[in-house]
Amino acid sequence: MLSERMQKALNDQIRIEAESSQIYLAMASWSEVKGLEGIAQFMYGQSDEERMHMLKMFKYVNERGGKAEVSELNKPADQYGSIKEMFETLFKHEVFVSQSINELVHISLEEKDYATHNFLQWYVAEQIEEEAQARTILDKINLIGDDKGGLYLFDNDIKQLTVVSSVAPGV
Ligand code: FEO
Repeated sequence: MLSERMQKALNDQIRIEAESSQIYLAMASWSEVKGLEGIAQFMYGQSDEERMHMLKMFKYVNERGGKAEVSELNKPADQYGSIKEMFETLFKHEVFVSQSINELVHISLEEKDYATHNFLQWYVAEQIEEEAQARTILDKINLIGDDKGGLYLFDNDIKQLTVVSSVAPGV
């Protein structure tokens, strides 16, 4: 059985994961209308992954005798000054999510909820991957700079990342 505090903290994280899915969906749309097919495909994939993160936690809360909440979500930004700005936003958002997961882990220890602590380890590992991936992409974008040919290749390249990330464990 989840404590009240643990349940609230998990429901807050469920909202953050749902908002992450919306943020990346907005990024997918921004990229798609700009003709950046590969980047759009990557963002649609990221959005799906975040929904999977949300659902995994949602089901866990109900499984442990709590009640998973469907919350109102903030509207994400839908305009970006550049591809670089968009990926910087993605990276910063993932760092924020990692901090939030760390805080959840901390709460699970304070509540002596070792089942939740164990459950959260999957998210800890996932955040390491997501941050590393965002960092790699940003490095590439910085290398390309304003080179149009490089950007074209990058848009093609990033499709590979979508294939890799979509084989992440399911719910
Ligand atoms: Fe579910 Fe990318 O954090």
